[in-house]
Amino acid sequence: MIVLGLETSCDETSAALVLDGKKILANSVASSLGFHKKYGGVIPEIASRMQLETITSIAASALSKARISLADLDLISVTSGPGLVGSLLVGISFAKALSLALSKPLLGVNHVHSHFYANFLSGEKIKLPFIGLVVSGGHTNLYYVADFDQIKILGQTQDDACGEAFDKVAKILGLGYPGGPLIEKIAQAGDPQKIRFNCSGTKGELDFSFSGIKTAVLYYVRSQKSEVRSQNKADIAASFQDAVIDTLVNKSLLACRLKKINRLVIGGGVVANNRLRDKFYQATRGLGINCYFPPVALATDNAAMVAGFAYQLFKKGKRSDLSLTVDLNY
Ligand code: KG4
Ligand code: ZN
Repeated sequence: MIVLGLETSCDETSAALVLDGKKILANSVASSLGFHKKYGGVIPEIASRMQLETITSIAASALSKARISLADLDLISVTSGPGLVGSLLVGISFAKALSLALSKPLLGVNHVHSHFYANFLSGEKIKLPFIGLVVSGGHTNLYYVADFDQIKILGQTQDDACGEAFDKVAKILGLGYPGGPLIEKIAQAGDPQKIRFNCSGTKGELDFSFSGIKTAVLYYVRSQKSEVRSQNKADIAASFQDAVIDTLVNKSLLACRLKKINRLVIGGGVVANNRLRDKFYQATRGLGINCYFPPVALATDNAAMVAGFAYQLFKKGKRSDLSLTVDLNY
């Protein structure tokens, strides 16, 4: 079964073709990131305008790379939320128009859920159930995944998302946007033990909070008598990064323990972070927990994960109709 996936939830415009939920035939991704950099964050109007201008050519490029014609498609899938409303509407409208014109089935999928599906596209056989962790610019969610259509949320951030905290701390340190890769880069020269930063406690033991640690970094920087030097910045970045990762590791292990599950599947843009990967591997190795990460190229937003995940849901009887619209309440 050949599924077309479309993803326009944030700054990316992506179209992909995936065979039987496993084999990526094409995954075209364009980003408007360069146009947002000078504003220090994604500007929704710019993102949706770029998506409107590029979605047709991105979809055409994916079809041509995969040597697939529109008539070969078995399903048209699209991210329907959460994300930026204007951006999501571009993908949804495009998908609905294709579905109507071609008389092909349509399916809207949850963006956050599709992130952990990126792990199932690299040939890895992962058994259900598993604990899912999604760490992105907009979400930090822990899930119990009994099946692809039975996903229960165990914990989530009470304030900032994990990637958002990286982005804000990078801004405090004057590093630029997006902050995650820049923090990771300068942290390599820093001492993670140098400054004691901690993530705030939460009422729910599997929930997260990243707003307090971001403020702690801000106060630390303000407390410095002179301008923060580059070695000091590296120490701040390394100390902040380790504190955030340790919290993600501890809560994920707790979820595995509470649910008696030894499979941990991680997805989302922050998973591109190598320190995070190392720390998760180190922490799970001795405990008999199998820890899965997607390839870096599939960690950030892309349509292959949408098409793959949609295939699984379609097999379980899920369908959308032309009333499909943005759903921010997933
Ligand atoms: O999943 P994603 O591409 O988009 C959303 O759905 O939000 O995630 C983007 C987030 C940004 O906050 C970015 O700073 C973060 O992922 N990120 C990283 C790294 N690469 C991207 N965070 C930490 N380390 C990285 N190497
Ligand atoms: Zn995402």
